Amino acid sequence: MPAALAWTLWAVLLALLAAAVALALWQHARLREARHGESRRLLAQFEALATLLDELALPARLPAITGGAGRPDFLLALARHVWATRPRLVVECGSGLSTLVLARALQQNGDGHVYALEHDQEFAAWLAGELERLGVADRATLLVAQLGALALGGETWPWYAEDTLPAGEIDMLVVDGPPGRLRPLARYPAGPMLFDRMRIGAAAFLDDARRGKERRVLARWTREFPWFRQEWRDTEKGLAVLTRSR
Ligand SMILES: C[S@@+](CC[C@H](N)C(=O)[O-])C[C@H]1O[C@@H](n2cnc3c(N)ncnc32)[C@H](O)[C@@H]1O
Repeated sequence: MPAALAWTLWAVLLALLAAAVALALWQHARLREARHGESRRLLAQFEALATLLDELALPARLPAITGGAGRPDFLLALARHVWATRPRLVVECGSGLSTLVLARALQQNGDGHVYALEHDQEFAAWLAGELERLGVADRATLLVAQLGALALGGETWPWYAEDTLPAGEIDMLVVDGPPGRLRPLARYPAGPMLFDRMRIGAAAFLDDARRGKERRVLARWTREFPWFRQEWRDTEKGLAVLTRSR
């Protein structure tokens, strides 16, 4: 082999080796960064859960936070709003741990009631048992309703087919249902269906607000309900709080 060719091959080999080492170092740094991010995220949730459990002082343990359950930072934000503003009528779309936390916070206030719209009968039966077990059933009503086809703005939306929400102005609204997989912008109907019933100064909480689907819901609400002031809470999944200004 001519010497020039041999040198070229060596140079190529060395360049490849250097590129492989650089790639490995870069991947290692990214992995470390991701691990740090993950442990920071877990620590923040752990701290929120510890604070929540401490302040709720429940007589028995909360059920496990699994699947679609609200994350501790979201649940803590809800409880703090209840303690701070003492709402009387709380409405929730999509029940779960949030219902238990809201009911307990209202019980601690000694005032108020949460009405939770729930499409899944089996889940509602389980949750009713948890409300009893935690001694907060008198502060919450599960409104089990199938998701019917609601016509809005020339489109059809899955929405709770029920008309037993009590009369009166809503002091706090939590939007965490219907399930987002049902159709794009699945939580949009909460705006046209419930915002008009909120009293001035009342707040609506939208969980999962970091997701593209929820961002689009927020953008549409902003266009259609400009008298709701939007505020962002930096929870893990993103929490948007919309306060009625007029
Ligand atoms: C996003 S979840 C609502 C979560 C609830 N607001 C909370 O904070 O726990 C929407 C629907 O999923 C179902 N769901 C609620 N909690 C769940 C859980 N832990 N695992 C699986 N499904 C759940 C219920 O049918 C609920 O209406």
